[in-house]
Amino acid sequence: MISVPLDKKKHNRHRFDCGVDVLNNYLCLMANQQSSKDNSRTFVLEDASQPEYIIAYYTLTMTAVDLQKLPTKLQKKHQATQAAGLIARLAVDKRYAKRGFGEWVLIDALKKLLSTSETIGFPLIVVDAKEGAVQFYEKFGFTAFLGMKNKLFITISDVRLSLKNT
Ligand SMILES: CC(C)(COP(=O)(O)OP(=O)(O)OC[C@H]1O[C@@H](n2cnc3c(N)ncnc32)[C@H](O)[C@@H]1OP(=O)(O)O)[C@@H](O)C(=O)NCCC(=O)NCCS
Repeated sequence: MISVPLDKKKHNRHRFDCGVDVLNNYLCLMANQQSSKDNSRTFVLEDASQPEYIIAYYTLTMTAVDLQKLPTKLQKKHQATQAAGLIARLAVDKRYAKRGFGEWVLIDALKKLLSTSETIGFPLIVVDAKEGAVQFYEKFGFTAFLGMKNKLFITISDVRLSLKNT
């Protein structure tokens, strides 16, 4: 499997349905526009039998972290920067759910951010999880920011460690 940049001429964005309207609408209306403005990048996993069908998508950009919301040890370690990679959106079409595609696109997104961090250093990856998806991210090593149950982070060093053998 391989993810490719969203191509509005090729991919059927209107068919995509993950069950969450804001995530469907973002793919249809915003993702391409934001990419053309260099504000974010959106990648899709195509259905190999019909490449215009989107199995899953994710959007990557950068964000600033409130260091006060990190555990003390990490606050000290990373006090020189507020920069973090952001998984701004991530969703799997309902027709393809529960078949491992969510895990695949999350790992793909983490690999891309890890690789970017080798060139432009930043210590954390952040995600704003939709209601019901927090445990999905916790399963892959994300931890909630202090006092923020839907906003989670993982350190680049933990991502490096867990992806070492993949
Ligand atoms: C959350 C989502 C990405 C999961 O996609 P998926 O393809 O069904 O997940 P996978 O089949 O890859 O599941 C991988 C593992 O995560 C677990 N998992 C999946 N969804 C989960 C959830 N919502 N909460 C907890 N665990 C979850 C699965 O049980 C599986 O665990 P296992 O390997 O021990 O069996 C998908 O349901 C989705 O797009 N939801 C709507 C949009 C959304 O909430 N996006 C995320 C927040 S922005």
